[in-house]
Amino acid sequence: TERTFSIIKPDATRRNLTGKVNAVIEDAGLRIVAQKRIQMSRAQAEKFYEIHSERPFFGELVEFMTSAPVVVQVLEGESAVTKYREVMGATNPAQAAEGTIRKLYAESVGENSVHGSDSLENAKLEIAQFFSDDEIVG
Ligand code: GTP
Ligand code: MG
Repeated sequence: TERTFSIIKPDATRRNLTGKVNAVIEDAGLRIVAQKRIQMSRAQAEKFYEIHSERPFFGELVEFMTSAPVVVQVLEGESAVTKYREVMGATNPAQAAEGTIRKLYAESVGENSVHGSDSLENAKLEIAQFFSDDEIVG
């Protein structure tokens, strides 16, 4: 069993979709073992997406991620990292498979409703950025 880090992004919290996204997550067999709603600071968003800092959309991305509350989560299950990437669907919702969160709910490649870690190594780093050990209850 494995853990991954998830964010329900501002486009989804704004449309009151937290519960609907969580239903897709739980139906896929992933367990939400930690969750909190936060307003991301600019510094937090810049650090979180540091890897994209040279990309042309970086400013827009930071602006978006701080534009409304997000829900940060730790998901647990077998192959949680790859499983959640499958459940999320492609970055661009136009290319996302049927039944995925992004196909169901995302609005555009930028405002795409969810984040999920892309590797086990990054999952550990991202979880540590937002949760202390005692906030995760497996
Ligand atoms: P995350 O789980 O959020 O990391 O998405 P991803 O791994 O599917 O995509 P990637 O890491 O390549 O990009 C990170 C995020 O940057 C995406 O989820 C989008 O929110 C945003 N993004 C990526 N490409 C574009 C783009 O062309 N324009 C804009 N505005 N945002 C983009
Ligand atoms: Mg990514």
